[in-house]
Amino acid sequence: MNRIPVILDGDPGHDDAIAWMLAAVSPLLEIRAVTSVCGNQTIEKTTYNAMRICTLLGITCPIAMGKPAPLMAPPMNAPSVHGQSGLDGPKLPEPAMELCELRSVELMAQVLRESETPVTIVATGPQTNVAALLLAHPELKPKIRQISFMGGGIAHGNWTPAAEFNILVDPEAADIVMRSGIPLIMSGLDVTEKALIYPADFERVRAVGNEVARVVADWLEFFYEFHRRLGYPGAPLHDPVAVVSLIRPDLLISKDLCVEVETKGEYCRGATIGHDRAPANARVNLGIDRDGFAALLVEAVAAFGEEKR
Ligand code: BDR
Ligand code: CA
Repeated sequence: MNRIPVILDGDPGHDDAIAWMLAAVSPLLEIRAVTSVCGNQTIEKTTYNAMRICTLLGITCPIAMGKPAPLMAPPMNAPSVHGQSGLDGPKLPEPAMELCELRSVELMAQVLRESETPVTIVATGPQTNVAALLLAHPELKPKIRQISFMGGGIAHGNWTPAAEFNILVDPEAADIVMRSGIPLIMSGLDVTEKALIYPADFERVRAVGNEVARVVADWLEFFYEFHRRLGYPGAPLHDPVAVVSLIRPDLLISKDLCVEVETKGEYCRGATIGHDRAPANARVNLGIDRDGFAALLVEAVAAFGEEKR
């Protein structure tokens, strides 16, 4: 079976890390590159986290550092959610690899050029790197099969009443992606806030007993603590839904919509507007089989076996 070639672009981040864990064990995906972006923390911190996560998970593809700031806006981080390191919680192994000498846009371009089949980009942070790639290498667009991203929300935001964090950090980048004509799969807050993993699930994950299971259970606990204080009954695993879209689309309910990004509004900058007054540009996930998703998570950590891979 031919695996789907993917580039993982994110700002890890607890939920990015869990998304990459799902990608690493899926027999359907082949990870060709990992690229960091600034978002949850500075580019230095998210890059270091990306390398530590890949070391833990046994991901051996090239890892490149991404853009240090959004295309036009000043950087914005989320230490209240992910801590000062951007990935607070369990101790992680130090990076076992060197950082790629190319920066993210050039590594992505190289992977696209060299791939015989179009590559899927999984974007789980602000879309700065992806937009920069499209601006720098428009000729490579046909080599991008689709972009599966976590970002936005048709019904509401989380960082402001109207905007979700990933889109709010770099609305100009998201606007470029949305208008790119590349097939998009959007996993926004509409679905990701339903992808709740409860404390009882954390224990199912921990009970698997291997190193990855212990780390993932600790990440879940850390990530939940912020959301528990806001009244959530579980940890909303935003970023993993962008991977579920590729490996278990049967768990999702979606609708094709035209999604546009507000880049100018005083109150609504970063909002994603979904409508059917123009041709659809995105498959927008709106619902998820929560129990199936929780079971997938437990299965995935179990796939790491008894020992760290
Ligand atoms: C998004 O913001 C980040 O904090 C998470 O990693 C996720 O990508 C949710 O709004
Ligand atoms: Ca993220």
